[in-house]
Amino acid sequence: LDISKLSKGGFDHFMLKEIYDQPQCLKDCMSGRLFADKDNPSNNHIVLSALTDYKDRLMSAKHIIIVACGTSWHAGLIGKQLIEKMCRKRVEVAYASEFRYGDPVIEPEDVVIAISQSGETADTLAAIKLAKEKGALIFGIVNGVGSSIARETDTGIYIHVGPEIGVASTKAFTGQVTVLTLLALALGRELGTLNNADYYQMIEELSEIPQKMEKVLEKAPIIKDISRMFTYAHNFLYLGRGVNYPVAMEGALKLKEISAEGYPAAEMKHGPIALVDQDMPIVFLATHHQLYEKIISNMQEVKSRNGRILAVVTEGDQQVKKIADNVLEIPRTLNALVPLLSVVPLQLLAYYVAVDKGLDVDMPRNLAKSVTVE
Ligand code: G6P
Repeated sequence: LDISKLSKGGFDHFMLKEIYDQPQCLKDCMSGRLFADKDNPSNNHIVLSALTDYKDRLMSAKHIIIVACGTSWHAGLIGKQLIEKMCRKRVEVAYASEFRYGDPVIEPEDVVIAISQSGETADTLAAIKLAKEKGALIFGIVNGVGSSIARETDTGIYIHVGPEIGVASTKAFTGQVTVLTLLALALGRELGTLNNADYYQMIEELSEIPQKMEKVLEKAPIIKDISRMFTYAHNFLYLGRGVNYPVAMEGALKLKEISAEGYPAAEMKHGPIALVDQDMPIVFLATHHQLYEKIISNMQEVKSRNGRILAVVTEGDQQVKKIADNVLEIPRTLNALVPLLSVVPLQLLAYYVAVDKGLDVDMPRNLAKSVTVE
């Protein structure tokens, strides 16, 4: 353990340092696993020892169940979309606390993926033990090397992002999503459910994410300015679709101290729209992807009720600029990789709002970094 990883390194808070650490963390996470050859993309490949050791078992998995809590559960929701799309296997995402007491249906052919930053969360650990008794293969996506969850699992992939000190998880989330992407790509390749062109292109794009993330971080001063407008609001709404829906939930979780909700955008009309007025800031994840036009129409519904819109958009977007009060641009990437970039402005927004409000950023009220009790 490098001692510099336990200091704030000139930043005011661990949370801000950890947000800025993310490009390097993702490089560390992909190092020795992702090989991208720009000159000859047909050499692009992924090496995961867990997949080599348990190849047949993972390939023949009937059903994959992801168990996790908090931010790790949000990473799991993105993982579900990635694995279902690239591997064509049914994936369920469960809160570990519900799973452990819910008498879940688990077959010996199933694979249970446990996601945990600390590797010590009591509910996740109990969920693993239950699944193990039923004969499922337990696959861990963990940061805490040698942690209880790492020891309980049959195999897995460490995220290798270094110790996370700030209670609000940031670099662990992007590390978890990166590992889930590597797993979905490598398994999809083995299963033949992912074609060569997509596999090569995804690897190339994934290798460029750290550099694109640096570009998002350069926008911090703009986010800091915008955050002041948001500091006095009582409620926030975060809306996204597809892969950006879990990002909306994660962005809202970062802001929970001042009451924020993350929603799949289309569900807005079934409740949250009643809250929208000129005092309600709404964060839209409106990057270019297959549901772009739909999110624009959700945005128009909010605008017609005078809601104040902050939108995260793809660089060069013109359409959203005409509707939103403020936009934050992120570089263009493949749809499946968008969460790795779109979550960063939301982390910064939560950070600056908490600083403006004079809150304890690294140790928010009533929260603990590791929840080792029920
Ligand atoms: C706590 C932390 C969160 C974390 C959750 C799950 O609530 O404050 O940041 O997401 O536990 O923890 P884990 O270590 O299992 O990912």
